Amino acid sequence: MSKHSAKERSELLYKRALASLPGGVSSPVRAFHGVGGTPLVIQSANGSEIVDEDGNQYLDFIGSWGPLILGHTHPMLTQEIRRSVQQGTSFGAPSRPEIELAELVVESYAGIEQVRFVSSGTEAVMSAIRLARGATQRDLIVKFSGCYHGHVDYLLVAAGSGLATFGTPSSAGVPKPFAELTRVLPLDDEDALIKLFKKEGNKIAAVIIEPVPANNGLLLQRPKFLKTLRDICTKYGALLVFDEVISGFRLGLAGAAAHYAIQPDLATFGKVIGGGMPVGAFGGSKKIMKHLAPQGDVYQAGTLSGNPVAMSAGLKTLRYMIENQGWRKLEALGEYLEKKISTVLKTSPIPASLVRISSIFWIAWGSNTPPRSAESIHKNAVKYYKAVFHGLLNRGISIAPSAYEVGFLSLAHTKDDIDKLSNSLAYVLAENFSEFKFQNRSQENKKMTGSTP
Ligand SMILES: Cc1ncc(COP(=O)(O)O)c(C=O)c1O
Repeated sequence: MSKHSAKERSELLYKRALASLPGGVSSPVRAFHGVGGTPLVIQSANGSEIVDEDGNQYLDFIGSWGPLILGHTHPMLTQEIRRSVQQGTSFGAPSRPEIELAELVVESYAGIEQVRFVSSGTEAVMSAIRLARGATQRDLIVKFSGCYHGHVDYLLVAAGSGLATFGTPSSAGVPKPFAELTRVLPLDDEDALIKLFKKEGNKIAAVIIEPVPANNGLLLQRPKFLKTLRDICTKYGALLVFDEVISGFRLGLAGAAAHYAIQPDLATFGKVIGGGMPVGAFGGSKKIMKHLAPQGDVYQAGTLSGNPVAMSAGLKTLRYMIENQGWRKLEALGEYLEKKISTVLKTSPIPASLVRISSIFWIAWGSNTPPRSAESIHKNAVKYYKAVFHGLLNRGISIAPSAYEVGFLSLAHTKDDIDKLSNSLAYVLAENFSEFKFQNRSQENKKMTGSTP
């Protein structure tokens, strides 16, 4: 595979971008700060490939951070978007695709009787939490460290010192009093959960969790932990919110809720539900959703909410997945990837383990066993990842520019693409980490035994 070294146009454009866009980007991870170097400026994409401004082609495992379950510019979807645009780009009134997409979500996801559309995952989460607070007449919310729920003020919060102390802002601009209404718990820890609820359970409006935590690595949870969470929320009258912005419609039509057979009170969606267009959604039972304006007194609105073009794209994507057994195909592809990458990692000079669920995958660098909490990710994970990232990019493979981001497969990926990834990974590991040799690997294993569960 050719080296992708000519990046002059990307570099020039990015330099220009730095003058007019903060950090040169519209969303921070894109700036490559997690791995160093200059971001590629992308010109076009097709199937499983993206093309930069210098004309370099890359096999893409980012998939626009999750939405593109069919791959880039799927002809059927492109045609549908074109058709919809010709009928009008926005009506500011109800439309058929919006109603049909709502019906599909309601049919598919256990416990959701009604759904409201918004324009991003952040907006979905923000609105769902306001709804939970309005419906329960309580203020406190609980989140887990290692889960990301968008850039909502009261969710950009880190754990304070000690259990059940106030959360503290993890971003400048988040007022302390907002953060103080949020409690932050570690994942995978029933004791911490029970202790917090014993102390403050009657004041907790909602607990929000990514049932498949996929924003700080892929921290798959024990089903028992999720079940305990469900039970304790029920016991104390707090609403359980599954943030399925990544997992929703990626694991299947019925989300992580069906995968774990646990029904949340509210669920939030984004990414796949919009088929690559800006869509978010949240839903729950009629009993809860009736609190939303115009029926109820929890205010929530949006000029472009339920946008007909975005709704058409989401609807077409999901229908295509249903008609073509898309999730079954992705699972088969995921199994193939797991087999191939795991084989490479077995002889990796540095310890590493592959974590996969459906078409979402992540490599836990430095760890022999998959971590289940943010705290147990290996301290050298970022260092290892940087070398792997640039090695793969130079060989024409684009993975996320951050050690903590997962990879996504789409229906456009082939076994051949996965072979390319695994062969290139083997090459990059040998090229970059040969000095580690096997005795180092076993030393590293010993050092990190205490840091993984
Ligand atoms: C689980 C989860 N929730 C919420 C969000 C926020 O979604 P958006 O970026 O569309 O605002 C994300 C984004 O990655 C996410 O992964």
